[in-house]
Amino acid sequence: MNDRMTWIEIQDKIGWIKINREKKLNALNRDLIDELHERLVDFQKHSSVKVIILTGSGDKAFVAGADISEFSSFDPQQAEALALNGNRVLFDFIAQLEKPVIAAINGYALGGGLELAMACHLRIAAQHAKMGLPEVSLGVIPGYGGTQRLPALIGKGNAIQMILTGDMIGADKALQMGLVNQVVPAEKLLEAAINLAERLMKNAPHSIKNAIKALNAADGTSKGFQEETLQFSKCFGTADFEEGIAAFLEKRKPQF
Ligand code: COA
Repeated sequence: MNDRMTWIEIQDKIGWIKINREKKLNALNRDLIDELHERLVDFQKHSSVKVIILTGSGDKAFVAGADISEFSSFDPQQAEALALNGNRVLFDFIAQLEKPVIAAINGYALGGGLELAMACHLRIAAQHAKMGLPEVSLGVIPGYGGTQRLPALIGKGNAIQMILTGDMIGADKALQMGLVNQVVPAEKLLEAAINLAERLMKNAPHSIKNAIKALNAADGTSKGFQEETLQFSKCFGTADFEEGIAAFLEKRKPQF
């Protein structure tokens, strides 16, 4: 069952999902988001899967963000629908999954890519990985939970700095801030993810499920997520948005 934009495998009770859109740095378009949802639903139901590991193909990117070319002409209503659907089928879906999901960050995790990693329960980064939420450089803001999950992980002061500058940070800095749980050399990334999965699998599945539910309840309020969707969608159609997206697609620096 390895077709389309994801590659999956079940091995030793681990459900592997590899995003397979390397030429576009594994950017998340709508079909890919729907496909990831299908894969997650299958693994959720599959009794032999105890832990899920999500990674990207190639050594350059985990996921370089939402697919910018896809939403370039969206208006605020379409943007709101995009964010609500993405959160429902992928980002919140992962966060609320009853089986632990580990992100093995094999390169750039930017924008929606970092939001995807943050929706996972645990994150291991390869030494060369770079992480950031560069949306403000494109005339938007994070729309897949980034404004809520980043401060929950690294504190509001650090999150404000990352979101308002749009700067990327390296894996060591991410570890120091608490954005990732572990950093390993690139060639050890999958091995480290397997080791962590095996440690989780030794524990009681019911306790893992209940702990995830309880920990999620500590994560801000749904009001914060609603405000993010509102502010995200309000960026669409503005002159800043048009300039930011055009600059990316034309491979030049934006002039805001
Ligand atoms: N959406 C759509 N396409 C993307 C993308 C994204 N988020 N990120 C990368 N790509 C595409 C590029 O357009 C390029 O396609 P092309 O070969 O058809 O021109 C291809 O992936 C390779 O990317 P490129 O920019 O040429 O690689 P690079 O090594 O010069 O730069 C990055 C790598 C990650 C720094 C750069 O791709 C980037 O800034 N991506 C966007 C990150 C971002 O802003 N994400 C948030 C989105 S909301």
